[in-house]
Amino acid sequence: MRAWKCTSSGSARTCLTLQSDVLAPRLPLRGANILVKVSHASLNPADLVLMSLLPCWLPLRRHPTPGLDFSGTVLDIGSSLPPDSNIRVGSKVAGAISQWDVGVGIGTLSEYIVVDAGQVAPVPASVRWLGMGQAAGAMGIAGQTAVSMVFSAHIRKGMRVLVNGASGGVGGFVVQICEGLGCEVVGVCSEANKTLVRALGAIEVVDYQAYQDLPGHLAARFGGSHDNNMDVIMDCAGNQELYTNSPKYLKPEGKFVNIVGGWSQGVIPFVRNKLRPVVLGGVPRDYTLFLLSASGTLSKQVAEYLEGGIIKKVPIDSEFGMEQAVEAYEKLATGRARGKITLKVAS
Ligand SMILES: NC(=O)c1ccc[n+]([C@@H]2O[C@H](COP(=O)([O-])OP(=O)(O)OC[C@H]3O[C@@H](n4cnc5c(N)ncnc54)[C@H](OP(=O)(O)O)[C@@H]3O)[C@@H](O)[C@H]2O)c1
Repeated sequence: MRAWKCTSSGSARTCLTLQSDVLAPRLPLRGANILVKVSHASLNPADLVLMSLLPCWLPLRRHPTPGLDFSGTVLDIGSSLPPDSNIRVGSKVAGAISQWDVGVGIGTLSEYIVVDAGQVAPVPASVRWLGMGQAAGAMGIAGQTAVSMVFSAHIRKGMRVLVNGASGGVGGFVVQICEGLGCEVVGVCSEANKTLVRALGAIEVVDYQAYQDLPGHLAARFGGSHDNNMDVIMDCAGNQELYTNSPKYLKPEGKFVNIVGGWSQGVIPFVRNKLRPVVLGGVPRDYTLFLLSASGTLSKQVAEYLEGGIIKKVPIDSEFGMEQAVEAYEKLATGRARGKITLKVAS
């Protein structure tokens, strides 16, 4: 079968090769595994981390196939799927695999993959406008992360939510879900993406590039009275300054949820934000650094939001062909994608 392989470390251009003689998954399938003919994959910043940061001499990093999100058709199922499973041969499914799977050689930029049935959910047939590329983009990492952030912040009707990085893969779903659940959403993005973020449901949009002091602007706009403050800040772009200054515009009982990891934007701020007591200069606001564990349950929740009209659009920045993975990753690496970048894997 055809699959992309990482043959060295670095950028997509230096490290990726499309191979057409990759061994297809071995049959028969064991346990609750399913064989999926991949229709579309969608790309995530985490794929770039795998390519550039993990040295290729690591035993788990020997010529892996990149890609976490996928949609496709089930071709075969193992002998012990749970009795209540609604997955059958011929089902159209979508979901995301884990980074561990990628480490051991299963990636979604591949014509066929074997995954546990618990990692996927059926693509909702009632959502007529939902193509298989959109299904991969929504029911994969981005949509699942958005759902998890919403659960983690206990989002409910009437809350005021600020979404930083509102035009990105994750942020676009956070905006829609919060708005759909009855929140007032303010999106933070660049001027170029204001129209998109409004169309996703934000009642107000802040262009972060227009203000040298973004927290200062937020304090002026959403500071003062308790009612004017935000209940929740969802940070999908990793801006520590937003948290440090949050007491000026986030309610004392409010929550700050960050998803951007790595040492400088994730681990070090997490340790500082969680552990430093207020008397030693810590910020008196609840802080969560969220790390997704992808699952079919979360994928199913995204499908339910699609069916219920809570998620009304799946913004697709661009769709590339299987041969164009390098160009697709180069677009992702700019950090300027408007929604999801997808790859049509099936020919
Ligand atoms: N913790 C987890 O489990 C988890 C899960 C998924 C993703 N993530 C992380 O979350 C981040 C977002 O992921 P994603 O898939 O949404 O990425 P993405 O789609 O590549 O995000 C691109 C968007 O980010 C916006 N952006 C870039 N710089 C910004 C800034 N300084 N302020 C506000 N917006 C900015 C861009 O909008 P403009 O062009 O308008 O600036 C663009 O629309 C990534 O770092 C990713 O690794 C973490």
